[in-house]
Amino acid sequence: MKILTLETTCDETAAAVITDRLDVLGSVVASQDKLHQVFGGVVPEIAARAHVERILPVIHQALERANTKLDELDAVAVANTPGLAGSLLVGLAAAKSLCVALDVPLVAVNHLQAHVYACKLASGEDVFPCIAMVVSGGHTCLFRCTTPLEFELLGATIDDAAGEAFDKVASLLGLPYPGGPAIQQAAESGDAKSFQLPRPKLRDAGLDFSFSGLKTAVRYKIIPPGVAEDATPQLDTQTVANLAASFQAAVVDVLVGKCRQALKQTGMSTLCVGGGVAANGPFRQRLEAAAAEDGFRLFIPPLSLCTDNAVMGAIAIERLNAGLVEDLSLDIAPGVVRKKS
Ligand code: KG4
Ligand code: ZN
Repeated sequence: MKILTLETTCDETAAAVITDRLDVLGSVVASQDKLHQVFGGVVPEIAARAHVERILPVIHQALERANTKLDELDAVAVANTPGLAGSLLVGLAAAKSLCVALDVPLVAVNHLQAHVYACKLASGEDVFPCIAMVVSGGHTCLFRCTTPLEFELLGATIDDAAGEAFDKVASLLGLPYPGGPAIQQAAESGDAKSFQLPRPKLRDAGLDFSFSGLKTAVRYKIIPPGVAEDATPQLDTQTVANLAASFQAAVVDVLVGKCRQALKQTGMSTLCVGGGVAANGPFRQRLEAAAAEDGFRLFIPPLSLCTDNAVMGAIAIERLNAGLVEDLSLDIAPGVVRKKS
């Protein structure tokens, strides 16, 4: 059985062909980073229009790489939640059209569950049940996952996502978009102890996050409160590196700390981490050290499966096996994952 999976939740247009044995036959990711770089963040309308341009070539290329013809497909899966509305609609419209034309089932994919499923795909191990952290440009959430399809939200950001904070702080420091890799690189020659920054919510027993205050704290190190924005000083390379390192250390402390708290509070012994920020080197190293110290199993996919891709849409196989197929009334659910208080 061969499935085509589509991913257009944010600013990557991606398609993959996967078998029911989870073999990846072909995968394509078209990044829009260059289009959004000048704005320092994803512009939803530009993202949606770029998906329209790219979705068919990307599908075509994925099929070609998989040496698969359209009429050999047995199902089409698409991420329909959560994400940017305009972006989600493009993937959903493409998936529905293919299902009608080919007379094959339509499968809905939850993008956050897919990020966690990437841990299973990458390791080949049964990672469930687990605590999962999804940390990206749009989300920072902790889940208790009983199975690949059963998620209970334990905590989430109450304002910015961690990746969004990386992107905004990079912009403050004059570093390019996407901010995460740029900050990681700049931080390599910086001193993480040079600037005192807060670790928001780290000492709270709850599992929610907050990053907008941290971003403001960085801003105030550059432009003190009350000083006009247009008086922004030109930062020298070492100061940029020191601010990048101090900011990154603060985010990593919070993320690693909350993962450990979630594991302790639930008594669970497996941690899966996914999403673009999981590509961060110091974050991965600190998680590995925590796993060795606390004795939990840790799964983090390789970088290409951390950032958005269609391979993780293989979770559609789990839905198909559970008999969960959709009809053509399937809608998008952009939603932002927030903890209900
Ligand atoms: O999962 P993803 O590709 O898309 C969303 O669903 O948002 O994540 C993109 C986010 C961006 O905010 C980017 O700055 C961040 O992941 N990111 C990183 C790194 N690589 C990507 N953040 C920190 N360190 C990195 N190395
Ligand atoms: Zn994502």
